[in-house]
Amino acid sequence: MTDTGGIFISFEGSEGSGKSTQIARLAKEFEARGREVVLTREPGGTPLGEEIRHLLKHADAGFGMCPEAELLLFAASRAQHVREVIQPGIASGKVILCDRFLDSTTVYQGVARKLSEDPVSSINRFAVGDAMPHLTIVVDVPAEIGLARAAKRASDLPDRMEQENIEFYQHVRQGYLDLAEQMPERFFVVDGALAVEDVATLIWAEVTEQFKLA
Ligand code: TMP
Repeated sequence: MTDTGGIFISFEGSEGSGKSTQIARLAKEFEARGREVVLTREPGGTPLGEEIRHLLKHADAGFGMCPEAELLLFAASRAQHVREVIQPGIASGKVILCDRFLDSTTVYQGVARKLSEDPVSSINRFAVGDAMPHLTIVVDVPAEIGLARAAKRASDLPDRMEQENIEFYQHVRQGYLDLAEQMPERFFVVDGALAVEDVATLIWAEVTEQFKLA
């Protein structure tokens, strides 16, 4: 938490982890306690970021995109988002709940797409400046469960990012677990295969402890 009371929490996890449901639940808990919550996401979160999101996920022009261009587009969306939404929100004492942030880049572009660690981490640092989440919640599910859930939910064809094979999502999952092990002070991993209610209870317990919300 900052001096202004601003709280920045990012959610991470692979496709079908159930993080969107948990973000909505956590927002309700904060709002019930009178906190102003900003729900936002990456890629996206600003008009520019939402255009970039379209390019990354749905536009015909995005198919055939090389991993280097993909990395830079995610970073461009993030740079704008940090300066237009996240930093001002934290500075004015809001609770920012962000669906994915820089760890998605480390894991998807770095670990799963196998881009070298150095450009990935330096581009991440350049994009975020000093806006690091106070807490990052990983909603962890085995890749098979996540993909089965995502397939059930998809009303139309999978988007460009959802067309990878199972090994890709296994790397994504392992990438998050490795990051959490390396940075236990920032990360909280919750078992996303549990009932929605139980996952929400575990997350709220962690949040109240971390931010001394009583
Ligand atoms: P989602 O918002 O439905 O989770 O879709 C975002 C997709 O983009 C998802 O497949 C994860 C991927 N992604 C990256 O590869 N790198 C990133 O930095 C971010 C934010 C998302």
